[in-house]
Amino acid sequence: MIGKKVVSFKSIDSTNTYLKENQENFVDGTVVVSKIQEKGRGRGDRVWESTNGNLYLSFILKENISYGRIFNILSRVCVSVINLLGKYEIEAKIKYPNDILVKNRKISGILIETYGNLVLEGIIVGIGINVNQIDFGTLNHKATSINNEINREIDVEAFQSEFVETYNKTLIVDDMSIFDEYLKHSMVLGKGIDYQGTNYKINTISPSGELLLTGEVETKRVSLNEISLEELYDE
Ligand code: BTN
Repeated sequence: MIGKKVVSFKSIDSTNTYLKENQENFVDGTVVVSKIQEKGRGRGDRVWESTNGNLYLSFILKENISYGRIFNILSRVCVSVINLLGKYEIEAKIKYPNDILVKNRKISGILIETYGNLVLEGIIVGIGINVNQIDFGTLNHKATSINNEINREIDVEAFQSEFVETYNKTLIVDDMSIFDEYLKHSMVLGKGIDYQGTNYKINTISPSGELLLTGEVETKRVSLNEISLEELYDE
């Protein structure tokens, strides 16, 4: 369960960085949120612009973890975001591995990081959800928010509690059902992808989070970190 302890900031560099640097002070499930992040981080060293009005939330997991469970944890977060957006009547899709899109525009991103020497000691899960931001500047064609979709301003603190509640509800659901939910909301199945100079079709995703690609001459299993799905196309 997450959120028994919640640490809130008005401003911080990054909720993920903060948890990583202070992990020894926090129990399993601690949630850290900030109204603003000065150095919000996305996957692949990208910047996550973090102005006031959106949700920037991280939590730390120390118990019951293994590298093999990371995709399951990621799936639980993705399914939570999808279900929560559903409550606001927003239909969202998961772009493998961890982007949440509404009509092809990104509304949420997830950054999972691990720490530990030799053995895994903890996992830090960071979630950014665009809640009230209206203008994304040059990214307007690629990003959206809840407010943009339903024309209503949302109370971010209440939304934060709703997220924690929704995530905790997934914890009583078994791993396979979560995986089925993840697949059901995935938008990448059947799409074409260029991988190492060859065209493949994304056939399915394995329960451990690998993509199964089918090409004209061979099939491939590709792990989470090996592929970027910037260029997806319809077959
Ligand atoms: C991505 O789509 O690239 C992942 C974005 C993750 C952003 C969240 S906001 C809260 C947490 N703190 C960070 O610095 N990043 C994550």
